[in-house]
Amino acid sequence: MRWRSGKELREMFLSYFERNGHRRFPSFSLVPDDPTLLFTIAGMVPFKPYFLGKREPPFKRATTSQKCVRTNDIENVGRTARHHTLFEMLGNFSFGDYFKSGAAAFAWEFLTVEAGLDPDRLYPTIYKDDEEAFSIWNGEIGVPKDRIYRMGEEDNFWSVGPVGPCGPCSELIYDQGPSFSCGRPDCGVGCECDRYLEVWNLVFMQYNRLEDGTLEPLPKQNIDTGMGLERLSSVVQQVEGDFQTDLFKPLIDKSCEICGTRYGDGPSSDRAARVIADHFRATAFMIADGVLPSNEGRGYVLRRILRRAVRFGRLFGVDRPFLMDLYPVLIDVMGDPYGELIEQRPLIGQVVELEEDRFGKTLEMGLHLLESEIGSLAPGKEDTLPGSVAFELYDTFGFPYELTEEVCQEKGVSVDREGFEEEMEKQRERARAGAKAASQGIGKSLFDEIREEQGATAFCGYTSERANTTITAVIVDGARVASAPEGSEALLVLGETPFYGEGGGQVGDRGNISGESFQADVTDTIKNSGDLVAHKVVVTRGEAAVGLSVVAEVDGPRRRAIRAHHTATHLLHEALTRVLGRHVTQAGSLVNEEMLRFDFTHMKPLSAEEIDEVEVMVNRQVLLNTPLEVILTDMESAKRLGAKALFNEKYGSEVRVVRVPGFSAELCGGTHVDATGDIGSFKIIREEGIGSGVRRITALAGLSAFLHHQRLSGQVEALERLFSVPAEELEKRAGEVIRENRRLSGQLEKQKSRQALSRVEELLRGREEAGGVSVVTGVLEGSGPEALREVGDRVRQRLSPVVVVLAVGEGDRGHLVAMADKKAVALGVDCGILVRRIAASLGGGGGGRADMAQAGFRDVAGLPMALEGVRGLVLDMTGEGV
Ligand code: SER
Repeated sequence: MRWRSGKELREMFLSYFERNGHRRFPSFSLVPDDPTLLFTIAGMVPFKPYFLGKREPPFKRATTSQKCVRTNDIENVGRTARHHTLFEMLGNFSFGDYFKSGAAAFAWEFLTVEAGLDPDRLYPTIYKDDEEAFSIWNGEIGVPKDRIYRMGEEDNFWSVGPVGPCGPCSELIYDQGPSFSCGRPDCGVGCECDRYLEVWNLVFMQYNRLEDGTLEPLPKQNIDTGMGLERLSSVVQQVEGDFQTDLFKPLIDKSCEICGTRYGDGPSSDRAARVIADHFRATAFMIADGVLPSNEGRGYVLRRILRRAVRFGRLFGVDRPFLMDLYPVLIDVMGDPYGELIEQRPLIGQVVELEEDRFGKTLEMGLHLLESEIGSLAPGKEDTLPGSVAFELYDTFGFPYELTEEVCQEKGVSVDREGFEEEMEKQRERARAGAKAASQGIGKSLFDEIREEQGATAFCGYTSERANTTITAVIVDGARVASAPEGSEALLVLGETPFYGEGGGQVGDRGNISGESFQADVTDTIKNSGDLVAHKVVVTRGEAAVGLSVVAEVDGPRRRAIRAHHTATHLLHEALTRVLGRHVTQAGSLVNEEMLRFDFTHMKPLSAEEIDEVEVMVNRQVLLNTPLEVILTDMESAKRLGAKALFNEKYGSEVRVVRVPGFSAELCGGTHVDATGDIGSFKIIREEGIGSGVRRITALAGLSAFLHHQRLSGQVEALERLFSVPAEELEKRAGEVIRENRRLSGQLEKQKSRQALSRVEELLRGREEAGGVSVVTGVLEGSGPEALREVGDRVRQRLSPVVVVLAVGEGDRGHLVAMADKKAVALGVDCGILVRRIAASLGGGGGGRADMAQAGFRDVAGLPMALEGVRGLVLDMTGEGV
């Protein structure tokens, strides 16, 4: 067998199948267009609708090398030579074309002829009673009977998840030879060790597993195969484990260099190198596909592995952001064919560094806390870390739960997961309180049921704001009914609708539905079960009944304002990309009749110049009044048109491209203006950060933008009148007024303290004596707290031991300061107590130290009396009182 690089093997595989009539696709996104999956976990995922017969495939055979992420075993990554989070799956697929026999023949020929594996070392396994597969391997391929192994459901029945396409499978096992064996006497095909490696899984996709577990035959018999590129490389390169292949080795070496270790030094440093190499690779790919760190879903997986890598670096003393040091190595190995890694370099760098920095700051403190908590468990008795600690680590120090668990595990301690979940649930409750329940509390299955009966709602709203149609379903309080009476709130489904259901960031339409002696106001429109449109209505006249003929009419002016904001959002997106760079990617949006909000990836606040440039660029497009083009096409042509697509858009299906010729193109299902001039005008009113690496722009278009300008210019006119200068001089004039104001305040303060200081002698003359301590009190009209303290200091310098209490009061607000010198404090005086007592008698409060304290109060009239009481209070403190 000849040594071949991973890259060569990938190419060899794809071109082999291409030669054999398969359409070759670049890897699809890691983020699947499939709500049941967090990540693309296998090559077949993007083709799921074809397997299920939901969509007719435009080709019968396909082949890919698909980037996949599997997250069920993250803790094992690093421990073994073969666990990864991200891997590449080589696959060939047949949609109702060739079946078992064809799949077996291709696989056998590829491995033995193309890759040069020794046929005598290959063992096919089959699903226990799959006689057809048996006779193919034995009769058609010529594998001796005793080299074909029958396996059970666990090994040889594959499904994408608890529901969905599935079928029996056949695996090809390769014997790497005795030197790879675990040495157990029963080591053979099926053994978990490295000698008998599963190389390729051929799935005979012929069932769809339903919710209740039944296997429903698929409309066609299909083939889905999957072979790990890393694993195939390890076999062909005859190395021990995937991390030694040329796909991984450079990353491993770099990780070791960063940690100051050498691969093979020992289990713990090798493990760290594997974790860092694997996790960085997955991190970079995920970010390149638009995943950003967060506390839920795929963002949480990303955060978890990124932070796990950081912790393993820390174990070897790396306490600076280091992951991006691996980036050039990754590009060397994977930059071709994964160009997105290069294109998204700024985003990857910024997200990784920000996250490392953020976690790096709290990691030390968190580990410290964790260690002391573990240390405080009674040895031998308690070996469970309380859930509340795991929660604190999560909430305050950013420790993903699994990281806490892993650190504990290393110390032989388990974690009270239930307790942790309880704390999480409490937090979620807090977050949920007040949040609007989605879909008005209607179970999804009800919509699914209607969708199944009636199909998707036909949408005519791109070209029309009005339709003659019928009511096909009525829902009241979560149940289907025949009719909804006057005055009730209901959800109506229509045969056809011009109402846009909330989606793609655009809010749902409003308007009305009416018929003979029937009228309802539509307050919102929601899409359910994909494309079933539900109109939320209040019946204002008559009865909304199934079968009723109605006219559905959208609130036109509102819709036009929404359209202007939506097209403005596209222009903004493109302008941001041009001004800030290609790393700008949409992270969310909201479009309604009053404003638009656009969230996008960018690491720092926009400068005033950048904002100006974006605004001008958008407004120029508005003035060009370019007619928009809407093109229905397939994904590949859309990409050729340069259309921006969200990361999870599918290939193969029909897509809608909204184009402003000469400027922007974007996949979008929303409603747009006819020509850019309809936007009228565009203005950004706010720019802010909303999360790590995500910025948010709020902007206005059309009449909203005009009203905003109008309001602002009204305010400017008011200021012109106030300052008696024209607008262009306002800034200068306001600056002058502020400076003048500051100067005068300063002068006034000085004068006040001069005045106050002039009273020191008079105060000293009026002193009293209490238990050997001089007591000075006084009211200093017109002084600020500053002046009171200054006068107090002067008095303190002149007498000892001394207590001085000074106050000022006007209207119903007063302030007092008490000060004592060291000797007075030594005799028992405590100014803190003193001011609290005085203030309490004047309806106020305060406090401070024994030698200085202050308080505020309201009863200014009571002040002279209160000051008279000071002497008595001092006597109490010095122990001379009664
Ligand atoms: N879908 C199967 C697997 O993941 C074969 O590609 O193993």
